[in-house]
Amino acid sequence: MRTQVAIVGAGPAGVLLSHLLAADGIESVVLETRSEEYVASRIRAGILEQSTVDLLTDIGLGDRLAREGDQHHGIYLQWPGERHHLDFVDLVGRSVWVYGQTEVQKDLVAAAHARSQAFVYEISDTALHDLETDRPSVTYTDANGASQRLEADVVVGCDGSFGPSRGAVPERVRRTWGRTYPYSWLGILADVAPSTDELIYAWHPDGFALHSMRSSSVSRFYLQVPNDTDVATWSDDRIWDGLATRLGHGQDGWELATGTITDRSVLPMRSFVQQPMRHGRLFLAGDAAHLVPPTGAKGLNLAVADVALLAPALTALLKGDAALADAYSDAALRRVWRCTHFSWWMTTMLHSNDDPFDRELQLSQLRWVASSRAGAAGLAENYAGLPIGF
Ligand code: FAD
Ligand code: PHB
Repeated sequence: MRTQVAIVGAGPAGVLLSHLLAADGIESVVLETRSEEYVASRIRAGILEQSTVDLLTDIGLGDRLAREGDQHHGIYLQWPGERHHLDFVDLVGRSVWVYGQTEVQKDLVAAAHARSQAFVYEISDTALHDLETDRPSVTYTDANGASQRLEADVVVGCDGSFGPSRGAVPERVRRTWGRTYPYSWLGILADVAPSTDELIYAWHPDGFALHSMRSSSVSRFYLQVPNDTDVATWSDDRIWDGLATRLGHGQDGWELATGTITDRSVLPMRSFVQQPMRHGRLFLAGDAAHLVPPTGAKGLNLAVADVALLAPALTALLKGDAALADAYSDAALRRVWRCTHFSWWMTTMLHSNDDPFDRELQLSQLRWVASSRAGAAGLAENYAGLPIGF
């Protein structure tokens, strides 16, 4: 098989890239190890930045988002005895939207089917070849067990943190940075109306908690737990008690409503960056190149921003102009490092540990962010997101 752009991975980065390329008249094939249903049902991110919403709207994928998404003007920052609202619209003139990654993925895949996008699902043994030539290729075993080769002008690794693309950049040229945090998140989805109008990020000596949501009848919650926590050790009662304590049930009359838990899982927290994000005819986008802990709600938004830069760069490259493709890695990494810092900063400010010095620093930082317009605007500018071209 031959195409112009071979895209490895059908997550949001891969399917959005195929959409933007198709709009420019560039053909692509998207390769994916999992099934379409599996990818669409993975519960992950929930917050879209202004620039992500603007992009999806501009390319005609904003209808359901406008109908079913929920625009939020800010967040609450909280610690025992205090809850403060940060109003992003007032502070920086931008807002965010609650619209789950599952919904973004469904909209992207529906649009892909409508234009007859080529997908190959349920492949195995994905391997990348001849990346330093003008004829790179990807080999794989298809769902019937047959060996296949997809030849292309360009290969894009959108295969997340476990895919083969990042490792296909030779060790002599790649550099990586990373941090594993000493805690994880226990995430749950529950059939209960949110007990808050906007997200609550709560520091607590027992550990961080986050009250998020998916709709008027579905809430999403996270609790800081030790690494390697067995989800079976958290009964429903223990989860709701932990959330009530950390989120301040009873504080100033606020109450946490509980409901049926429909999903629960433990998520590790990691920062990771690999650069360059381009080697020869291989380009990396999204989690394939970088991971952030979810405290800043940046993972999905960063993947979208990468692809927004990459699509015009590849279109120009395939028409003979390499300037944007040559600039892609540096341009994307500027935003990646900003979001890496912001996500690390939110994470270290909000997750508690046993060190009394750290605790005082965290509380001091929270008080400053919540009470100083300059401090609040810094958080707001990063959380609501910088423009795509930043
Ligand atoms: P992915 O969505 O990971 O897509 C990569 C795709 O490549 C996958 O479909 C995978 O199956 C496929 N693939 C892998 N290997 C191969 C191969 N060998 N061949 C072909 N295909 C392959 N972000 C937030 O902001 N908030 C959250 O709450 C949040 N929760 C998360 C929970 C989990 C468990 C994870 C893993 C991530 C979470 N994130 C969250 C991050 C966010 O979901 C990601 O940043 C986003 O999905 C990145 O999109 P992507 O397309 O780059 O990668
Ligand atoms: C979510 O709703 O899943 C969510 C929201 C905000 C975050 C992380 C996850 O910072």
